[in-house]
Amino acid sequence: MCGIVGYIGNDSAKNVIINGLRGLEYRGYDSAGIALGSRGRILVRKESGALENLEKKITKSEFDGKIGIGHTRWATHGSPTRENAHPHLSADGKIAVVHNGIIENYDELKPWLIENHHIEYRSETDTETIAHLIGVYYQGDLESAVKKAVLRMRGTYAFAAIAADEPNKIVAVRKDAPLIAGIGENCNYLASDIPALLKYTRDIYLIENDEMVILTKDEIKIYDADGTRVKREIMRVTWDADAAEKGGYEHFMMKEMCEQPDAIRKTLLPRIDNKGRIKLDGIKFEKDDLDVLDHIYIVACGTAYHAGLQGKSLFEKYVKIPTEVDLASEFRYRKPLVDNRTLFICISQSGETQDTLAALREAKKQGARILSICNAMGSSIARESDDVLYTWAGPEIAVASTKAYTTQLICLHLISMYMGRVRGTLPKVEFERIIEELKTLPEKAEETLKTENVMRELAEKFFIKEQIFYIGRGTDVGTAYEGSLKLKEISYINSFAIAAGELKHGTIALIRKQTLFFALATQDFLYEKMHSNIEEIKARNAHTVGITKDGNKRLAKICDEVVYIPKCSDEVASILAVIPLQLLAYHIAKLRKRDIDKPRNLAKSVTVE
Ligand code: G6P
Repeated sequence: MCGIVGYIGNDSAKNVIINGLRGLEYRGYDSAGIALGSRGRILVRKESGALENLEKKITKSEFDGKIGIGHTRWATHGSPTRENAHPHLSADGKIAVVHNGIIENYDELKPWLIENHHIEYRSETDTETIAHLIGVYYQGDLESAVKKAVLRMRGTYAFAAIAADEPNKIVAVRKDAPLIAGIGENCNYLASDIPALLKYTRDIYLIENDEMVILTKDEIKIYDADGTRVKREIMRVTWDADAAEKGGYEHFMMKEMCEQPDAIRKTLLPRIDNKGRIKLDGIKFEKDDLDVLDHIYIVACGTAYHAGLQGKSLFEKYVKIPTEVDLASEFRYRKPLVDNRTLFICISQSGETQDTLAALREAKKQGARILSICNAMGSSIARESDDVLYTWAGPEIAVASTKAYTTQLICLHLISMYMGRVRGTLPKVEFERIIEELKTLPEKAEETLKTENVMRELAEKFFIKEQIFYIGRGTDVGTAYEGSLKLKEISYINSFAIAAGELKHGTIALIRKQTLFFALATQDFLYEKMHSNIEEIKARNAHTVGITKDGNKRLAKICDEVVYIPKCSDEVASILAVIPLQLLAYHIAKLRKRDIDKPRNLAKSVTVE
């Protein structure tokens, strides 16, 4: 979603800020802007569309300064125009602000500013209100003006402000939107996310909710809501800088799909000790902690929700506690029955998804223990959870989630199997069998990636289709949903996923000659049932592509085409079966000349409701 970058030091701020914004492109944006403090003035340039448009505008040498803030915007209040792009200025042009989040009471503040201070708005944004408020309160001290402005604001935000008359500081505040400060040599940085700063520094401070941070070139001062100076530990980022770049692949998505064997390895193997037991980096559940539970909720959005669907079967099978999966946007409004006998598991790649975070807070308020599966270290969801198990997948840049999903599945296996053993509901022999299966996954994922040629050929055959169906049973249903979502989001083809047994209750009416079906049949114990469902659609002249395990000869007899994943147990098959579907979506999108890493209307991290 929106990204913030700030710089103060001895060098030209514009280059640092543009590079920072480039590091945040993966968040999705539709306009970008920059404000520099220069000789008692603030210079602003902003453009809609790609960052290059902005860059072209600011190469002129007179546009310079050693302090600045920048922003990539994903439109929420007001269309994605240049006027609505950030930074926004106060009425006299002497304060500039960039902001992520939403000022919920801007429609109360706006008339007040217009009537009492004769402010003329220049944009349709809520953010402009912050700039005007600070402008109204400003009397030579940015810090105290920001404090006064914050007292008037409701909503979620991370914003940064600079003042023309104080070119020696950036003031920023965080409330429910990510914000970090980076430590440099004779300079300091500000950003919404780590990848913005990787090129410059790896030493950062995580800014907490309701904190204000003041950056000068020599110092970073953090204050809590009461104005007390806070001492914060430096966090050293260990990400590989290359990981934030495409590394030779044409798209981040392809790079990230290919990284899956390694991401699975990194997420899985360090959590299995040499005696074959699961160790979850400090997460500890005793038998009593689990016996007290009468309910598990798994709550997430998008792809993470699909991982949750798989989690439900795992928790019910291994831990034997009723488990419900819910969309975060629904959970938070339906008064779920949560108390201190509830374990609330939330899954989020970014750790910043607003709906998931809000659901977490709701569950926490009602007494649930919160366990999260996150990919972003230090993210809001991670920090607000009682326990966190990280997917060590590395940064995921493409909007379409791939390696985050497969590693989320690994984490769900680890947690449920660990709990199953602690609780005594998963027999040791069974546990050991699945551990051995899991350990083979990095190699098998490598093997599964070799379906790329087959998937490319299928893509060439089918990329002109306007509709594709995905069906499956058991854990294959979740895989069908995820395959369908991948296709929709990056190729813009209408696709539909459904439990195969449910087809005949309505959807079957859509089948005509050559309607295309991807039929997942990786669950041996459900094979006969699935076979019959495929017969049903074949009888209506659909075109079927089966996905099954190596060695299944029967499927080839009824499907027009078959894609094979390596032999594996039913429990882990979904981790492999999604890979050919990711590859299919990628190649179809490529043939359709789509913007694969940044599909239209989508953002990597959705920090609004
Ligand atoms: C957005 C992304 C999806 C992602 C979902 C949840 O919609 O485009 O790829 O699955 O948010 O994100 P999270 O970061 O919470 O996993």
